[in-house]
Amino acid sequence: MDKKQRTYLVTGGAGFIGSNYIHYMFDKYDDEIFIINVDKLTYAGNLANLKDIESRDNYRFVRADIGDREAITAILKEYDVDRVVHFAAESHVDRSIKDPEIFVRTNVLGTATLLNCVKEAWQQEDGSFAEGKKFLHVSTDEVYGTLDEPKEGEEPTYFYETTPYDPHSPYSASKASSDFTVKAYIDTYGFPANITNCSNNYGAYQFPEKLIPLVIHNALSGKELPVYGDGKNVRDWLYVMDHAKGIDMVQEQGKLGETYNIGGHNERQNIQIIKTILATLQELLPDDDPRKANVSEDLITYVTDRLGHDRRYAIAPDKIKKDIGWEPDTCFEDGIRLTVKWYLEHEDWVENVTSGDYQKYYEEMYAGR
Ligand code: NAD
Ligand code: DAU
Repeated sequence: MDKKQRTYLVTGGAGFIGSNYIHYMFDKYDDEIFIINVDKLTYAGNLANLKDIESRDNYRFVRADIGDREAITAILKEYDVDRVVHFAAESHVDRSIKDPEIFVRTNVLGTATLLNCVKEAWQQEDGSFAEGKKFLHVSTDEVYGTLDEPKEGEEPTYFYETTPYDPHSPYSASKASSDFTVKAYIDTYGFPANITNCSNNYGAYQFPEKLIPLVIHNALSGKELPVYGDGKNVRDWLYVMDHAKGIDMVQEQGKLGETYNIGGHNERQNIQIIKTILATLQELLPDDDPRKANVSEDLITYVTDRLGHDRRYAIAPDKIKKDIGWEPDTCFEDGIRLTVKWYLEHEDWVENVTSGDYQKYYEEMYAGR
């Protein structure tokens, strides 16, 4: 008899990290797995990210809200789900500052509803959970707050799994709240879950409201590159496929109930990131490409800072490395080249997602800054 395919319920699989994760999983496991992708298709969800996956027999897409108890329960009744990987969220800090409520609805209440549906589907009569059922909650390093810049002669500080939560933005507060809800399920019901807290991702299919794709897109069309504050805020960048690998390794090899930080020790100031992108565009664009003349550091424009802007993020990935053996495969120099190249080759994708609603959002977000 054929071995049973392991069945995954992936939430938010049409978004940036979720779609890269689905590609990673089919590349790695091919027919050994079945994936049900549940996504509401907000402005950030795009089925074009999964075009080459759509026709697979071992993939199904369901358009649903994670907060829709009936829809989620129906899926869990139809399929014997072995793994849940929960990406679905409102993910953009600037949007959370403008409209915090949807972040509470999706990230907090949505996660609570999803958790409860999965608990009901997986819990046995004696209250225990069957062997092999696992839930992974994808979270962020932003829940830990902010770090100071290291002073001359002092050791830099990092986010560890034991660092107290101290979220500042409505986005990170909603993610912290969802993390605590997962932790409560682990402690109260013995719910079989892990939490991963990852640093900033970059790569293909990232919506151009986020720094890296926004800079690529604006530079190609000769638009201003808005730098918040002094441009010296630090983020710790990780190539999205390394994150996908980390999620899979934590789910298969991690100890249930534990949290793992995922990051690759790649701290950069925002202004350094912008200059690297401009240099990479100059290098990759052929001389006869008319867009090349647009790409210039003159586009860099300092604008009003983000409210409550966290100064520095930096993950200590010691635990995931020691306990699970995860390390990133892609250094920043290679990852950023791959990313810039992908955006150059997929202008139609960018065109598609930047038309309509996003255009309106962009104009509102940067008006008067
Ligand atoms: P994204 O905004 O690109 O994608 C989010 C996806 O969730 C979209 O497909 C959207 O349609 C879907 N979605 C939103 N609300 C939903 C709902 N109520 N029901 C069902 N689907 C819904 O986000 P991303 O950058 O891919 O982030 C994915 C996850 O990873 C999030 O939980 C985020 O907090 C976390 N994370 C992101 C980063 C990063 O750098 N992007 C880093 C660490 C952690
Ligand atoms: O750290 C993980 C987090 O990284 C994830 O949890 C979030 O979902 C993800 O959006 C990301 O949050 P950031 O706020 O760090 O990413 P963003 O790309 O929005 O901004 C990166 C840095 O660049 C930040 O310091 C703000 C700055 N920035 C951003 C934009 C969009 C600018 O200077 N100008 C801009 O136009």
